Amino acid sequence: MSQSSAVPSVQRSDTEQLYAVLVDGHRAGLTAYRDRGEQRVFFHTETDDTFAGRGLAAELVRQALTDVRASGKRMVPVCPYIASYLKRHDGFADITDPVTPDVLTWLEAQLP
Ligand SMILES: CC(C)(COP(=O)(O)OP(=O)(O)OC[C@H]1O[C@@H](n2cnc3c(N)ncnc32)[C@H](O)[C@@H]1OP(=O)(O)O)[C@@H](O)C(=O)NCCC(=O)NCCS
Repeated sequence: MSQSSAVPSVQRSDTEQLYAVLVDGHRAGLTAYRDRGEQRVFFHTETDDTFAGRGLAAELVRQALTDVRASGKRMVPVCPYIASYLKRHDGFADITDPVTPDVLTWLEAQLP
């Protein structure tokens, strides 16, 4: 990852409602969500430009979705990056719910 050989780690922050990816102990990206009952609705993913195109967001999303599964929840990929990730990677179709107008209306009311 960049000049570092460190394996990125991913941590969930329930208070911030996001998963952060850490490289050498520093936050290098995040994917943000809001919980709607048993659905975890992901709406935004970003990574530092320094790591662009090196798979950091993909590793962040892989670990985040693995945690969603382990938590017994489902996920909704409103975030375009995650929607695109799901087209390129198998393994999460069974926990993925569609982006519906109801979800989008609900999400809009959650965000500042
Ligand atoms: C989008 C973003 C998170 C990708 O991070 P990254 O670490 O470079 O991503 P990865 O290396 O894991 O994956 C790159 C892949 O993501 C795809 N991708 C890049 N930006 C994308 C976007 N906005 N929407 C969907 N897919 C995108 C690329 O086409 C590439 O696909 P490929 O491997 O088939 O060529 C990063 O560029 C970013 O923070 N952008 C600004 C914020 C943003 O636009 N977020 C997405 C919408 S919420």
